[in-house]
Amino acid sequence: MPFTDNRYFKANPRLLASASGMFYQTPEGREILDGTAGLWCVNAGHGRSRIVEAIRDQAGRLDFAPTFQLGHPLAFEVAARVGALMPADLDRIFFANSGSEAVDTALKIALAYHRARGDSTRTRLIGRERGYHGTGFGGISVGGIVSNRRTFGPGLPGTDHLPHTHDIARNAFTRGQPAHGAARADALEGLIALHGAETIAAVIVEPLAGSTGVLVPPAGYLQRLRDICDAHGILLIFDEVITGFGRIGAATAAERFGVTPDIITLAKGITNAAVPMGAVACRRGIYDTVTHAGTGIELFHGYTYSAHPLACAAALATLALYQDEALFARARSLEGHFEAAVHGLAGAPHVIDIRNFGLVAGIEMAPRRGAPGARGQDLFRALFDTGLLIRVTGDIVALSPPLIVEAAQIDTMMAMIGAALSKLP
Ligand SMILES: Cc1ncc(COP(=O)(O)O)c(C=O)c1O
Repeated sequence: MPFTDNRYFKANPRLLASASGMFYQTPEGREILDGTAGLWCVNAGHGRSRIVEAIRDQAGRLDFAPTFQLGHPLAFEVAARVGALMPADLDRIFFANSGSEAVDTALKIALAYHRARGDSTRTRLIGRERGYHGTGFGGISVGGIVSNRRTFGPGLPGTDHLPHTHDIARNAFTRGQPAHGAARADALEGLIALHGAETIAAVIVEPLAGSTGVLVPPAGYLQRLRDICDAHGILLIFDEVITGFGRIGAATAAERFGVTPDIITLAKGITNAAVPMGAVACRRGIYDTVTHAGTGIELFHGYTYSAHPLACAAALATLALYQDEALFARARSLEGHFEAAVHGLAGAPHVIDIRNFGLVAGIEMAPRRGAPGARGQDLFRALFDTGLLIRVTGDIVALSPPLIVEAAQIDTMMAMIGAALSKLP
């Protein structure tokens, strides 16, 4: 099972049988309040009939169409809709089936772009410590998750990493963007001095890191990265697999933070997770450069299920739902309440930091002596058993409820977490 303690699970299975709105139901009929939008992906809430109907209808109309040397109209319609939500001119879209595939696609597009410009020494890819970019070899190579390196080795040659921005000593209990840490972007200058700008193709970061434990970018940090990349001809990729589609109160983190990258990776919320889909949005200049170089197939890349018709139908219905229900603005308007509620846990046992932005919050607990991660697992299990789904990374709780969450449900989540913390050894 993915990212699961298999033996523990077999002995203590936790199953979800159905879902609707803000709740999952277990096979025994217990209701579980969804504090994590599934896995950061069910932004419009569960079982939305408009999306269900669109998928059902599409399955009977066109079940599959190859997109190698062929196309189908829905794919172009979704590309246009997604492109319209992207900042600046990032409206050239390539479809994949997951965040991991979107990341590998983005890295390959960066390499293809430099090669098409005749700058083929630019092959180095820079990620960041604690970065999570999925599970492909490209993603784990630029990612900075220690367990990946320990288990699967060094990954792609020619990668390097910026330092992460987590700094509890100076930023603990910050509401919104931390004040300290913009200067950590200057480490990119150090990597440029070490490797030479002419060898670096791209820098990839999560504008707000989710899976590694909710790291909100320090004020000024992303702009500093943008400026350094611009000064040295390096592409900047934002991995917005989590932050895309309203999670932080705007279509993208790029829009919310006012910093425009060259490439954005997307997945999860693009279809409200009803059918797997990933996507990469590129600046027009990147698309034009790659497609105008040479003849024949310009980007030697793609997936059998790129722009699968069911995913396209789900995406169109999802994007219409986001628009009609103004869900990105709703997330923004709930942010103040969410922030106040989560910071209300500041005095709770074990809590050493709370951080938040948009409808994302991280609650960091002190690890149990000699057993890092155990407290997080215990809290996850206790809350599931009392009816709340949270996500834990080590001893950090990540909350990311569907954007349809009610203020009272936010209060319920915090009350349940507070109660569980007070019983936790
Ligand atoms: C920032 C980021 N990139 C990539 C991924 C990988 O997405 P997937 O699990 O769909 O491959 C994730 C998953 O959580 C993510 O958070």
